[in-house]
Amino acid sequence: MPEPIIDFRGVTKRFGEHVVYERMSLSVLPGETLTIIGGSGGGKSVCLKMMIGLLVPDEGQVLFHGTSVPDMPEEGLRQVRRKVAYVFQGGALFDSMTVGENIGYALREHTDWSMARIEQRASECLTMVGLHEGVAEQMPASLSGGMKKRVALARSIAIEPEVILYDEPTTGLDPKNIKRIGDMILKLQRELDVTSVVVTHDMPTARKVSNRIAMLYQRAFPFVGTADEMWHSAAPEVRDFIHGRIRRAEQSAPAHPVDAAEDSRGA
Ligand SMILES: Nc1ncnc2c1ncn2[C@@H]1O[C@H](COP(=O)(O)OP(=O)(O)OP(=O)(O)O)[C@@H](O)[C@H]1O
Ligand SMILES: [Mg+2]
Repeated sequence: MPEPIIDFRGVTKRFGEHVVYERMSLSVLPGETLTIIGGSGGGKSVCLKMMIGLLVPDEGQVLFHGTSVPDMPEEGLRQVRRKVAYVFQGGALFDSMTVGENIGYALREHTDWSMARIEQRASECLTMVGLHEGVAEQMPASLSGGMKKRVALARSIAIEPEVILYDEPTTGLDPKNIKRIGDMILKLQRELDVTSVVVTHDMPTARKVSNRIAMLYQRAFPFVGTADEMWHSAAPEVRDFIHGRIRRAEQSAPAHPVDAAEDSRGA
């Protein structure tokens, strides 16, 4: 097994009395796309935040390339945040900046590049996420939900990250944009060779983009494996999770989640 890029070892995380993680372990391997699935309020966003030191565990270790993230000095954390892009839940663009300024933000913060070079890179990133470079002049408020998510993605790749963390990149989008974002995650993995962690509620997206899926259940990740291994797992908590999803999917759409995933893959 290769050396993990991010490694949680026996992590416990509490907020007051509320225990979100209890002796949780999870590894993110170089070049993989790992998807985290699990119920609302379970701790998926907390997990991503611990990866870059926005939250610290109460017990256990969070390692980035073998170095403890909570123990890093300010400069070390800055380096981690330079290498790890975080696409926040909800996109969170700066409303008072143009799209181009949003995309160039990290480059202004972390590099000494000229304005012209930053603008050039912003255009490249817009093209990479399938948007016209003219969009750079627009304000976020004028964009559709799907476009905002793609701009948030463009912003996260501007600085050529080693790792991209996506917090629910498809939530609230229509099927066409869900497919687009999934395609984009696959494309970035192939073309930029990035390692990705994707938090999603959407099983078809999980099946489509993941090398491995980690299922968050009762304060830990009792299942980590491929989509097929998950689908064929006999573990009761995994069966419960999958069948809960199927019931919910049947209520909202006629397609079986597996068929939907196969459809989007073939398309
Ligand atoms: N900064 C914080 N202070 C106190 N409690 C927090 C904080 N951040 C998260 N929590 C709590 O930790 C739990 C896990 O939160 P988290 O946001 O990780 O859930 P999630 O799995 O991302 O849910 P969702 O699918 O709704 O986004 C929740 O009960 C939340 O209220
Ligand atoms: Mg969340």
